[in-house]
Amino acid sequence: MITMGVITSTRIEWVYILEPMTLDDIDEVAAVERLCFSNPWPLAAYRRELRDSRGNYYIVLRDDPDADSASPVQYGSSTPRRQGRFAFWPLGRRDTRKTPPPIIGFAGMWHVLDEAHVTTIGVHPDYQGRGLGELLFLTMVEETIRRNATWLTLEVRVSNYSAQQLYRKYGFSIQGKRARYYTDNNEDAYIMWSESFKKPDYISRINDLRRRLHHKLSFVASGAAS
Ligand SMILES: CC(C)(COP(=O)(O)OP(=O)(O)OC[C@H]1O[C@@H](n2cnc3c(N)ncnc32)[C@H](O)[C@@H]1OP(=O)(O)O)[C@@H](O)C(=O)NCCC(=O)NCCS
Repeated sequence: MITMGVITSTRIEWVYILEPMTLDDIDEVAAVERLCFSNPWPLAAYRRELRDSRGNYYIVLRDDPDADSASPVQYGSSTPRRQGRFAFWPLGRRDTRKTPPPIIGFAGMWHVLDEAHVTTIGVHPDYQGRGLGELLFLTMVEETIRRNATWLTLEVRVSNYSAQQLYRKYGFSIQGKRARYYTDNNEDAYIMWSESFKKPDYISRINDLRRRLHHKLSFVASGAAS
């Protein structure tokens, strides 16, 4: 689990939690997905993906409304790693509270050999435009690098300009098109590919984007930006 929040002295004022998706999350993820997509996945597709966890990686993003009164230790016994004004818990931890905070975003990918593929990504409409889609996407990029894969690819609707801009920001470019890929309206998909993660200058660009994103999330959370 990764937890991010603005820290003032010893307190975290707000917290976003990134953690692995489990079977228990599927209904809530599907509810957010229905708000994001005109052709959401059937629940069985999530179950199938989560059962094959070796090649797949699915995460959820939670907004912790109780963070105001929360102490970081409630998430586990390990000490959070601080980076600037954010706190991170090691990825892989699960929030152990009986009723975890609501899911506001999700993302997933599969990985085979040298290639990873983003299969889904979405942020609840009420939370869009704050850098959280970028946080989810960056986590997919980081997982691809952690698995030592060279490339990350995805399909995106030709009309989905905002998502394409997010991927372009991370160096992705259009390398092909799949005709009538989306069955709800027969829309074409662009196939976008990352640059090679073996290129040191690409890794430094991603590191730079990560620093900027963390700064931006801190800025938005402190109410200093729109
Ligand atoms: C695509 C999506 C995940 C982006 O998440 P988000 O939280 O709204 O986006 P962020 O605030 O993190 O923005 C990150 C970047 O995305 C791009 N972006 C986001 N919204 C944009 C908009 N309205 N217009 C243009 N670019 C936009 C920008 O490059 C932005 O970086 P910037 O802030 O430096 O300009 C979100 O809009 C979503 O869930 N959409 C519906 C589902 C979907 O289309 N998923 C993608 C399927 S391929």
